[in-house]
Amino acid sequence: MELSNSVNYLCSTYGDAFADVYDDWYQQVTDVEGTADLISDLSGGLEVLELGVGTGRLALPIARKGVPVSGVDASPAMLKRLAARDSEGLVRSHLADMAEWLPSGPYKIIFCAYNTFFNLVGDDDQERCLSLVSDRLSADGLFIIEAFVPSNYSYLPTRGVESRHLSDATVLNITIREKMSGVVRGQSVQFGNNGVVLRPWRIRIRTPDELDQIAAIHGLKLLERWQDWNQSTFTSSSDHHISVYASANS
Ligand SMILES: C[S@@+](CC[C@H](N)C(=O)[O-])C[C@H]1O[C@@H](n2cnc3c(N)ncnc32)[C@H](O)[C@@H]1O
Repeated sequence: MELSNSVNYLCSTYGDAFADVYDDWYQQVTDVEGTADLISDLSGGLEVLELGVGTGRLALPIARKGVPVSGVDASPAMLKRLAARDSEGLVRSHLADMAEWLPSGPYKIIFCAYNTFFNLVGDDDQERCLSLVSDRLSADGLFIIEAFVPSNYSYLPTRGVESRHLSDATVLNITIREKMSGVVRGQSVQFGNNGVVLRPWRIRIRTPDELDQIAAIHGLKLLERWQDWNQSTFTSSSDHHISVYASANS
């Protein structure tokens, strides 16, 4: 399995760096209940696959609704956290780079939530992932992606330093956007009683139109676009989108 995106930054780097704080910092960062309700409704009770399953923040609530859930993640540390939270063994997890390998399926639903698709930063990683997704969907399957809309998202990381203060630490987030590639590189620097902890991250940002284009190249057509998991109408000022793709042959 080729895990390298560049010399220093691997596809496991983000997850391994953030796993210890992920559930504290990001548990409520998106609409967990809304995600679980909609994915569960659309699945019809058939197996779903989450790309970048992490600690199971979304996968576990979906599985608790009785939906069989599998998840892929590149980070051993994230999957260790998931296993510790999943005492009932509800989520079947796979350690893999989602640009390189996905379970054979076929799946009624494959989803990639909370901007996780942007974690694919290598040159053709997003394209290769979509090619795999297209191959692993059942004939009536759906691929659902949640991401921010770059032009409307007020927290878009570009270039700069921001700080936040936790009860026992201060965290600086330093970001720089590479103009040519569109990749944003960041470093979270935590200063606490036990010293300094570095947590690097990178994202390759895409507009909704760009996602539609690369999806189409891989045989996926846009069926629906909402601005949230409650299926609210997507407008020109929406700062997030939930996009639903189906096989172009269906
Ligand atoms: C922002 S977290 C989201 C986790 C979970 N989906 C959630 O919403 O809480 C992104 C996850 O994607 C994983 N990830 C990043 N790049 C990946 C890749 N190339 N293949 C598989 N997983 C990847 C990270 O390890 C991390 O667990």
